[in-house]
Amino acid sequence: MYNHADLKDLVDKAIINLSYNTEAGKLIDPVKYILSIGGKRLRPVLALMACNLFSDKIDEAVIPATGLEVFHNFTLVHDDIMDQAPVRRNFPTVHSKWNINQAVLSGDVMAFIANDCFLQAPPRCTSKVFRVFNKAAIEVCVGQQLDIDFEKAIIVSEDEYLRMIELKTAVLLAASAKIGAIIGGADDKDSELLYEFGRNLGLAFQIQDDLLDIYGDIKVFGKIPGGDIISNKKTFLLVKALEIASGEQHKRLKEQFAMKEFDPETKVKKVIDLYDQLNIKAVTENIANDYINTAFSLLDKIGAVKERKKELAQITCSLIGRNR
Ligand code: IPE
Ligand code: IPE
Ligand code: MG
Ligand code: MG
Ligand code: MG
Repeated sequence: MYNHADLKDLVDKAIINLSYNTEAGKLIDPVKYILSIGGKRLRPVLALMACNLFSDKIDEAVIPATGLEVFHNFTLVHDDIMDQAPVRRNFPTVHSKWNINQAVLSGDVMAFIANDCFLQAPPRCTSKVFRVFNKAAIEVCVGQQLDIDFEKAIIVSEDEYLRMIELKTAVLLAASAKIGAIIGGADDKDSELLYEFGRNLGLAFQIQDDLLDIYGDIKVFGKIPGGDIISNKKTFLLVKALEIASGEQHKRLKEQFAMKEFDPETKVKKVIDLYDQLNIKAVTENIANDYINTAFSLLDKIGAVKERKKELAQITCSLIGRNR
């Protein structure tokens, strides 16, 4: 059995060894950059852990797992353009280091490099792996569009919010776990359980990401704090705050998000004050915890011995206390 550190190491090595088959340095330099400045490698590690539940032939899954990381990094490059984010993983974002056009095109290239990686799945399951990936990839785009649409919406319900994060974030974790399981030779029932496990993990993960946007330590989290408040993102915190706020608080909260011109620091401070009055941090942590518990109960149902599930159980625990 492989542990978390071994698996991350395998992915990091595979990323370094990626071949780019092109002379367009201008396009490839940003790709190498974003892949070299860190990242937890959560999605490929999840895929490899899922594979390792059923098989010791991890090698078969390493390149497809790497494809998941390359695809994830492509979504980050484009996400940072859309969110106008200056910093990612404590480094300048691709579009601020180069420019928007280069960031768009380098991102596009990464999506196709990811495809190349999936083509290297074992022939017995290549098309299955591809179908799972493609479905998730389209869903991520739909989720990102909803995220952008919601910036302009005044009220977004909890259900609408959950659907948005399911699409933009959770389905890729779900697909990662399922792809790993398929390559490991799991049957359909266990592959589906791993999908559901990853989906619940992903929901908790994005809710935690929303929390960290405000309460995270910038040095560890590596993004500018309050970014979601400044760009009117519908985070779990805001959706919940608008749901439970009383008349006066509700009015003040809505005012903050209706302003066309504002001092970012003052807006962030006022919104956090209101969140604190409403105890939003604890409410949000509780919801994330519920999804983690569901993930655990799904893990229990998977047809592999308990000993094999240790690494997945550990990563599940670590996500809820995660600070980066
Ligand atoms: C960031 O993902 C984007 C979200 C879906 C919240 P990660 O937190 O996995 O980012 P890295 O790859 O570790 O930097
Ligand atoms: C990211 O959501 C989702 C995808 C990249 C698909 P966020 O916009 O919340 O991610 P961060 O906080 O910038 O990493
Ligand atoms: Mg975003
Ligand atoms: Mg973002
Ligand atoms: Mg975020």
